[in-house]
Amino acid sequence: MQNKQLLLGISGGIAAYKTPDLVRRLREQGVTVRVVMTQGATQFITPLTLQAVSGHPPHLALLDAEAESAFGHIELARWADAVLIAPATAHCLAKLAHGLADDLLSTLCLATRAPLLVAPAMNQQMWQATATQANCRLLRERGVRFCEPTTGALACGETGPGRMAEVADIIAQLSTLWRAPVLARRRVLVTAGPTREDLDPVRFISNRSSGRMGYAVAQAAQEAGAEVVLVSGPVHLPTPTGVRRLDVYSAQDMFNAVQQQLVNADIFIATAAVADYRPAQTADEKIKKTAHSLPLALERTPDILAWVSAQSPAPFTVGFAAETQQVAEYAQDKLARKKLDLIAANQVGLPGQGFDSDYNALQLFWKGADEQLEQQSLALTDKLSLARRLIQQIAHLYAQKSPE
Ligand code: CTP
Repeated sequence: MQNKQLLLGISGGIAAYKTPDLVRRLREQGVTVRVVMTQGATQFITPLTLQAVSGHPPHLALLDAEAESAFGHIELARWADAVLIAPATAHCLAKLAHGLADDLLSTLCLATRAPLLVAPAMNQQMWQATATQANCRLLRERGVRFCEPTTGALACGETGPGRMAEVADIIAQLSTLWRAPVLARRRVLVTAGPTREDLDPVRFISNRSSGRMGYAVAQAAQEAGAEVVLVSGPVHLPTPTGVRRLDVYSAQDMFNAVQQQLVNADIFIATAAVADYRPAQTADEKIKKTAHSLPLALERTPDILAWVSAQSPAPFTVGFAAETQQVAEYAQDKLARKKLDLIAANQVGLPGQGFDSDYNALQLFWKGADEQLEQQSLALTDKLSLARRLIQQIAHLYAQKSPE
């Protein structure tokens, strides 16, 4: 954190009272902090307080000739190594999502190239509102980092999610953001989403995978400096910035694409929910209902992950296991059977996580020194935060296995 330059945006929420402590602790770690306050923020805490703790007068207005001549807003946007907004109100998030620039803070967010980290804080109903969640999803897709709000008693008297993350957690996230890219110059191949196995021209067999975990993994690997190719089954998701995406349809298509793309891949991460079976025959014409029942003959699809790990040399190979029961046992079995370097297991079928959800939790298993089984639990959080933690662990194990 030493010598880093942080632009701290404070928007108008009660959690603004925590920001002097945040600034003080950042400065103790060697960070230079300049503060931008919205008009609302000045109702909760005085600019003088922030001036005293940061050592600089806070920036308050966009159209202020005196402030502009001293340290203009474009200069400020260029100066920042990161922009942190804490607290970020629902209104502030909405403005960011829509690219508004009607005050100094929102203008700076558009004008800067620095990474943006937000620490939302608001009433729980406002946090859970469809509009707020849609704005957050959009911002995450664009690479904005979130210090997720915590659950507890809120200033408004209600209890629920919406408390600003603890100051220590915000600082920890900031330091992760500034860490050197752990996968610089590495090539990462990711599979994601479901596959579709046609029965006839109008019907197929598929599954409920949304592709969100795989897309988050691809984005996290890209943020960590890797060159990422994403082989994706049919999903409704935008391509993460900087990631090369190849769309495929069936398990066989995905296998063909992986075979082509594997050359020079350092790391292979199989998050796709590949169909294990496909119809033995695909009818050329639509199957008509004639008999009372219709038996379906199915055949196995190629196991892409097992094929990759059997290559010589094989990349660092990561598999996913989605289980409804005995998660740890099945995952360990898969780790050994498919000869993986790491397996990430998640329990599906629980409300609010896994398939079709923005949230997930993972249990990681790998073989450590002396073939000893090691494990790490990554607690329930949004899929992008989870993917970033997973990528950190993959990078760590990869570096151990293939030292430069
Ligand atoms: N996988 C793959 N190709 C397949 C099937 C699965 O690459 N044809 C990958 C998935 O992307 C995932 C892992 O293998 O990383 C899942 O393993 P798998 O044994 O197929 O999981 P399940 O089908 O859930 O296991 P099982 O049928 O043994 O319960």
